[in-house]
Amino acid sequence: MSPAADKMVASTLPAGKKIGLLHSLIRKDEKMLLDAFKRANVQPVMIDDRKLIMDFESAPDVDVILERSINHSRALHALRLFESAGVKCVNRHDVARVCGDKMLTTAALSEHKVQQPRSRVAFTEDSAVEAIEQLGYPVVLKPAVGSWGRLLSKVNDRDAAETILEHKTVLGSYHHSIFYIQEYVEKADRDIRTFVVGDRCIAAIYRTSKHWITNTARGAVASKCEVTPEIEEISLNAARACGGGVVAVDLFETPDGLLVNEVNYTMEFKNSVDTTGVDIPGEIVAYAVREASR
Ligand SMILES: Nc1ncnc2c1ncn2[C@@H]1O[C@H](COP(=O)(O)OP(=O)(O)O)[C@@H](O)[C@H]1O
Ligand SMILES: [Mg+2]
Repeated sequence: MSPAADKMVASTLPAGKKIGLLHSLIRKDEKMLLDAFKRANVQPVMIDDRKLIMDFESAPDVDVILERSINHSRALHALRLFESAGVKCVNRHDVARVCGDKMLTTAALSEHKVQQPRSRVAFTEDSAVEAIEQLGYPVVLKPAVGSWGRLLSKVNDRDAAETILEHKTVLGSYHHSIFYIQEYVEKADRDIRTFVVGDRCIAAIYRTSKHWITNTARGAVASKCEVTPEIEEISLNAARACGGGVVAVDLFETPDGLLVNEVNYTMEFKNSVDTTGVDIPGEIVAYAVREASR
């Protein structure tokens, strides 16, 4: 870890306050968070979503829960029930709901006038083909709920469009026949991932790949990106539009400026701490501590 990243982010949890960590498998990101908790002298209460039983009344005896479930549905349901039992959550249920569904994210960004790729939603194969041709080839079809670049299709012509729509309808679960379609953004060989904690954009990376899908989970290479005022502004606007908290924002560079592709609410940062020199887990822990102190 670089010296800057190694620096401890100052944070003190008031006596008697407790922070819970909702988790599934402990991955490298969660290990880094646990290390950051240690550096902040906080012993989190571990809440394993594989063992959790909720009774619609009570919640774990903690003041704040930091959500790190791997599974979106588990996170969504657990956050809703924790909040209804009066526990403050990072992120809030509503942020998870909006960020976890690309359609809701697009709606939120649109309501807040944040620049994003042109998108369409359609409910039948015929109307989806029409929507695709309104946007013009190539387009990208994505499941509204999904991550790590899975099940994304770049559709270059009508033959491919018809085939993919039919496959989604026949082979997919019913969610897959709600068609979410985006214009394909010519983006050279990279996109930008920024990290927002509260009201600050703390770091950014480029994700570079020969493939049009630039998730690091799909082999893209992370490198440091300076947080320019333009990157900061659009990242903070995107985060605010989705309800704030701790989020990672995907940006596309275009000749007409930056576009927000999506906003992620259980952000992964393991490839970005050494790359940026920013103690991202330390910043997240400090945010959770501030939430517990308020
Ligand atoms: N409309 C698009 N135009 C160009 N590239 C795209 C587009 N949508 C997605 N991509 C590429 O695919 C990657 C994954 O897409 P994204 O919408 O972020 O889904 P996921 O939630 O799976 O990460 C993006 O980081 C980008 O590289
Ligand atoms: Mg993404």
